[in-house]
This record gives sequence, structure tokens and C-alpha cells, in this order.
Amino acid sequence: MNKPIRAKISALGTYVPPRLLTNADLERMVDTNNEWILSRVGIRERHIVDPGVATSDLAVEASKKALQQRGLTPADIELIVLGTVTPDMLFPSTACVVQNKLGAKGAWGFDLSAACSAFVYSLQVGAQFIATGAHKRVLAIGSDVMSSIIDYTDRATCVIFGDGAGAAMLEPAENDEEGFIDFIHEVDGSGGQFLYMPGGGSLHPSSKETVANKMHYVHQDGQQVFKFAVRKQAELCLKLLERNGLKGSDIDVFIPHQANLRIINATAERLGLRNGNVIINIDRYGNTTAATIPLAMNTAIEQGKLKKGSLVMLASVGAGFTVGATLLRWAF
Ligand code: UT7
Repeated sequence: MNKPIRAKISALGTYVPPRLLTNADLERMVDTNNEWILSRVGIRERHIVDPGVATSDLAVEASKKALQQRGLTPADIELIVLGTVTPDMLFPSTACVVQNKLGAKGAWGFDLSAACSAFVYSLQVGAQFIATGAHKRVLAIGSDVMSSIIDYTDRATCVIFGDGAGAAMLEPAENDEEGFIDFIHEVDGSGGQFLYMPGGGSLHPSSKETVANKMHYVHQDGQQVFKFAVRKQAELCLKLLERNGLKGSDIDVFIPHQANLRIINATAERLGLRNGNVIINIDRYGNTTAATIPLAMNTAIEQGKLKKGSLVMLASVGAGFTVGATLLRWAF
């Protein structure tokens, strides 16, 4: 068997819609306050779409930026893997909508459902197509319009989520000094009962009853998810470090899913990371589900922390439960 071809991220584009939803706005909508949101979750503001703007629209904007950064055209894309829990509609896939809106004539693609782990899973799916030599240019996208499935009368969920998108171009690495090194993914379906949207699928097709019972919104048992996230995210990261002969202090940039500042801090502490190496932007964007990690990559670039050669660890936990940890060397 031929040696697998290592994949790298060769370009990154991100996009958030311009409209802001601040804690002060939410104070006027539900019984909440800035102090609670900041201290319990760590969010100041999030971006949300105007009516009529869909997940594909955010994905297209992010994709255009990634293409432009790399000097590529839509015709160069061979495969689109799009992670989302808020597809434009159940079918056709949002990947097909994006392919058409971009004019990526030669590409095939599909959606990937892994909630907050969808971007790291999409990266690995894309990387495997590069590893086999089947493709040379894969666009891995994480895009969500969470505001389309949030009940803005439920203070337990509406303060948390925001909208956004990120797109990473994946290409073969030049050498072993860049690109993806290793990953561990796990799912635990027994956790499905703690974070889910029950309505609109084959089990509970949309009806007056499903709408009246608010089954088209996100339902979350926050404490259950919190406990699992803190335990499992650190566990997978430690396993990944250990099997690569690394310690937390070897990581240059840690990019975790942005669900709750307390989850991020607890994970960072368990991993023994060096000070200042954890990327946090939940204060500005909230939890954008599939988009948190590319948005945090962009923040790391803006802060000058993510450079060519940086040793990076990505970590995510999401509905499912899905968990992912990825080790890579940044390539540009
Ligand atoms: O990205 C997908 C994965 N999701 C996650 O990782 C989320 C994990 N969970 C969490 O981040 C946290 O559990 C939440 C942020 C969702 C909630 O924080 P918590 O510290 O676990 O709060 P809680 O649910 O235990 O609620 C504590 C109190 C309750 O009041 P009582 O019963 O103590 O009187 C809630 O009713 O806080 C109350 N509360 C609020 N108060 C003001 C809940 N939401 C709010 C709110 N504003 N928005």
C-alpha cells in the first residue's frame, strides 16, 4: 500500500453576519442579565442573520474568502464537505446549494451532521480523500444559522448561540513539517437525549402539534452537556498527546470549541497548556456550533499566535454526543 498523502489547511475564510445581538438586547427579551451571561458562559455579543439569510449564504461568503486567499477559483474545488445542524432545508444538501451559488462546476459534495464537532469531522473527512490521492482540493466548511432553531423566549438557550461560518481549503502537504498529524473522534449516542431538536425529522414530522410543542427548537440539559464536555474533551486531548509523545506544554495553539468559557478553562487546566496559548473568542461570537473552530482559527491568526509551523490542537464536543481532537502543524 502506498504511504498516505498528508493533508494540510492551505487557506481559511470566515464570515459572520453584520447584525449584533448583545446581552443588553437579550435583557430586553428574556429574564436574564449581562452579569449572569458573562460569568456563567462568557459571552458579550453574538452575530445573527437578517430574515432570509441562510446557512449556505454564510458558507459561500467564507468560501470566497478562502479561495481568494489561496488565489484559487471555484472551478478548482473538487469536493465540498459541509458541517451543519441548520441546513437551508432537509434536502437538497446545503453542500449542493453552496456548489451552485459558488459556481464550483467540477465539485461533488455532501453535508455532515456532527453538531459542534462538524468542522473537525469535516476536516478529517476531507483529509482522508487527500490521503488516498482521490482529491487535491477539498473545501471543508462549518456553517450554522443557530438563530433559526433557537427559542428566543427560552433564556436557557437563547443567550448562548450565534450564527457564523468558516471554510478551510485542504490540499496535499509539501512535506511532513506541515498539515494533519493525528486525530481521535468518538461518539456516544447515549447523550443524544441531552441536546437535540426533536421536530421536523422522520420521527416527528412537522405539524401544528410539533410547532405548538416547540419541537423545532434546540432543547438542552445544560448541566449534563457541561459535565460530559469537561470530562471528555480533556480525556481525548490527553490520549492524542500521549500517543504522539507530546505534553500539553508542547502545544503552541489550542483551539477549542467555544461553548462555554468555563468548559474551555477547565479543559486548558487539565491539559497543562502554556499561558496565553488558548484561543478564546466566545465573548464576541457566542456558540456558533460548526463555525466556532474556524472562527477561533481566524482569531488566532489575527492575534499573531497562529503561524506557519505552529503545533495546533483542535478540540470539540457537541450534540450526539460527538467528540473530536485533532493535531496539526499550521501551514501558512
Ligand atoms: O455546543 C454544544 C455543547 N453545549 C455545551 O457545551 C453547553 C454546556 N452547558 C453549559 O454551558 C451550561 O450548563 C449553561 C450555560 C447552559 C447553563 O449554565 P449552568 O451554570 O449550568 O446553569 P444552570 O442550568 O445550572 O442554571 C443555574 C441557574 C438556574 O436558576 P436556579 O434554578 O438556580 O434558580 C437557571 O434557571 O441559572 C438560571 N438561568 C439563568 N439565569 C439568568 C439559566 N439561564 C439563565 C439566564 N439568565 N440566561
